[in-house]
Amino acid sequence: TTERSSTTGTAPVLVASNRGPVSFGTADDGSLTLRRGGGGLVSGLSAIGDPNAVWVCAALGDADRRAAREAPHGRLDLAGHDVGGQAVRMLDIDPETFSRAYNGVANSTLWFVHHLLYATPTAPSFDAGFRTEWAAYEAYNAAFADALAAEAAGNAAVLVQDYHLSLAPALLRARRPDLRIGHFSHTPWAPPEYYRLLPDDVARAVLTGILGADRAGFLTERWARAFAACCEAVLGATVDHDALTVTHEGRTTRLGVHALGADADFLRERAHRPDVDERLAALRAAVGERRTVVRVDRTELSKNIVRGLQAYRHLLRTRPEWHDRVVHIAFAYPSRTDLAEYRAYTAAVRRLAEEIDAEFATPGWQPLILHVDDDFPRSLAAYRLADVALVNPIRDGMNLVAKEVPVVSDHGCALVLSREAGAHAELAEDALSVNPYDVIATADALHAGLTMPAGERADRTKRLAAAATALPPQQWFLDQLNAL
Ligand code: G6P
Repeated sequence: TTERSSTTGTAPVLVASNRGPVSFGTADDGSLTLRRGGGGLVSGLSAIGDPNAVWVCAALGDADRRAAREAPHGRLDLAGHDVGGQAVRMLDIDPETFSRAYNGVANSTLWFVHHLLYATPTAPSFDAGFRTEWAAYEAYNAAFADALAAEAAGNAAVLVQDYHLSLAPALLRARRPDLRIGHFSHTPWAPPEYYRLLPDDVARAVLTGILGADRAGFLTERWARAFAACCEAVLGATVDHDALTVTHEGRTTRLGVHALGADADFLRERAHRPDVDERLAALRAAVGERRTVVRVDRTELSKNIVRGLQAYRHLLRTRPEWHDRVVHIAFAYPSRTDLAEYRAYTAAVRRLAEEIDAEFATPGWQPLILHVDDDFPRSLAAYRLADVALVNPIRDGMNLVAKEVPVVSDHGCALVLSREAGAHAELAEDALSVNPYDVIATADALHAGLTMPAGERADRTKRLAAAATALPPQQWFLDQLNAL
């Protein structure tokens, strides 16, 4: 559908993303409970403090759907909740369409492509089932374009987020050519030779969908250049490599690089509340005088948790001096459990953790503390305590853990950081860089971190914190808005 709407809405600024700033659950008495989400977008949008701003997102579960259905015109009533001022419109997309778009295309296909996650002898296989999923992804993107077109005031700025919504910019432009449209990718972008494993029409549709925006934003220059290279290779588009623009079928899209930073004010305040202090005391009691290696991730294929554990095991196998002198605190929170690959990966993480425990634990020493239940204050406590932070993704758009740890660290923390994380572009100088596939090199980096002199560690942490907070989320958001 490319109909142009005759009426316009009232919002001068809009954000669109799959996961919104709030989510719902159901209390024991059957009533709906509301949870506020975190992340850069939430603080970014609340920074503009415009009560007419609208956030369009998808209802993600049954409770969200009920809230969306009960909301007048789909607008949630958030009065009395501290969610940043803007209105939220949650789209009640039918569950089957949603699941095919979110699980099938966004998370099993586009996420895999951008993070280079396929084991290509057997996957992917673009069969009839994929075509059904792709049609759902088109419908899901059209539902967002319809809602945005209806909510946006004339000439409004619309900031569309991430790989779930790669078709929405072009669909929205067809409906509302008056709008200023931005798209932002929070993921890496695949190099052309890998991107081209997508079916040709899909590969083209994703690129032309994003090129429907006036500006396409990325977390690093590397990902922006990969996108431009895909536009050249797949679409035959004209790329100006100096100005970072892509021209295709008479329209030019500017590429922008906005390296989202950590929110220092929020983190420092949050990390010193009583609930964090309590958890810090509990972790300290468990660790004693030993050194700590900390990691905090979603249980996500691209986070490379298994090789991280293998590296820790290699450290203990080859450097027995660390026995009873170090504890690895690994928080691996549940994520995308609808996908079989993620369930299998979660099982692999648990299995390896048990093996490490069986191989090294003694009555007085637990070498590995693995937690799989999400607890944000406990994550902050671990950040404060860490002697070494392990951030070793296969590939990552940015990775905010790498930026958050130095900000809240109590006594300085060595950062072992994958060179394939977007954050590496800014933090390389004071991090211990690793090739994420090289388990032995990762073990060596852990050892280097554990033996780094306290003074050097504190100095590096200070510089890491400064680099990590160079672009706070509020400014990151405003920069994109102003550039539009
Ligand atoms: C990444 C994506 C986000 C996504 C988040 C959590 O950071 O860039 O768009 O919201 O992962 O994944 P989920 O599937 O739970 O929303």
